[in-house]
Amino acid sequence: MKKVILSAMAVMLLFSCQNDQADSTDLATSAVAHRGCASTEVLAAQMAADPTLAIKMNQIEAFTQKAMLTNRLVNGKVQIPVVVNVLYKTAAENISLAQIQSQIDVLNEDFNATNSDYNSVPALFSGVKANVGISFVLQAVVRKATTLTSYSTNNAMKTASQGIAPTTPTTVLNMWSCNLGGGILGYAQFPGGASATDGVVMDNNAFGRTGTVSAPYNLGRTATHEVGHWMNLRHIWGDATCGSDLVSDTPTHNTANYGVPAYPHYSTCSGTPVEMTMNYMDYTDDRGMYMFSTGQKSKMASLFVSGGARASFGI
Ligand code: ARG
Ligand code: ZN
Ligand code: CA
Repeated sequence: MKKVILSAMAVMLLFSCQNDQADSTDLATSAVAHRGCASTEVLAAQMAADPTLAIKMNQIEAFTQKAMLTNRLVNGKVQIPVVVNVLYKTAAENISLAQIQSQIDVLNEDFNATNSDYNSVPALFSGVKANVGISFVLQAVVRKATTLTSYSTNNAMKTASQGIAPTTPTTVLNMWSCNLGGGILGYAQFPGGASATDGVVMDNNAFGRTGTVSAPYNLGRTATHEVGHWMNLRHIWGDATCGSDLVSDTPTHNTANYGVPAYPHYSTCSGTPVEMTMNYMDYTDDRGMYMFSTGQKSKMASLFVSGGARASFGI
């Protein structure tokens, strides 16, 4: 408790004086040697009287830090360095730099609301559609031939022996392009996992929006979806019937949606809301997904603040 009070007070000491109307009668016994602002003294007296105030103030500070980050995100100051690791057995699997760059372009569009289909978001959701404000910078491409015909979700592609080990995963988003078996388009590691396996994996035929991509997963949205997971977003249906994605401004979905659902698609869950099928965290075709919500943005942004699970990516 003492530590909490001290940290809240340290925060207060950074404040400039804004309360000239402080009631000095409460301060009659405090040793105020200077003229002017008494806010700090007033606060100290209030804290002495109410131990819960420090906790409340810490919560306010945590919120403020998050809100400040959000502003910086809107200003486009967060840049995530990206290394793309390409594993190939065939020449076609050795995707071109143009195909790789097209994926970086899609991520930059989708996370900055500059995707051409952003204006297709229905009016019902226009109040919660979000410009996440995170950009991605291609730093390097690492290529390696493999004898493996395909990979699974056991992370073999991330090992030096069977694939390519990640480049400094605490400061770089590692992406792998390889042939994934079993019809898997991609997968991500959520925040909190081992560094050695951190990053996102995409099938080479769902990587980017040119070259060897294959419809209906030919617009680079698999990576948008996977990077959403990498930034702690859950599937919009909460991976359960009428489950929760832990985001309050996304409607409850009955289950995953596929293809390109006709709008409006109603949920059968409590309240029968119109589902946000065009959210990147649903399972529709690439052309059917074109928005993140404000709540999803907040969840992603909170990772990068001091103490956040991906704070090492810096702000
Ligand atoms: N099935 C994959 C996953 O759950 C990705 C689905 C992405 N959908 C798409 N239209 N590209 O992570
Ligand atoms: Zn997913
Ligand atoms: Ca929700």
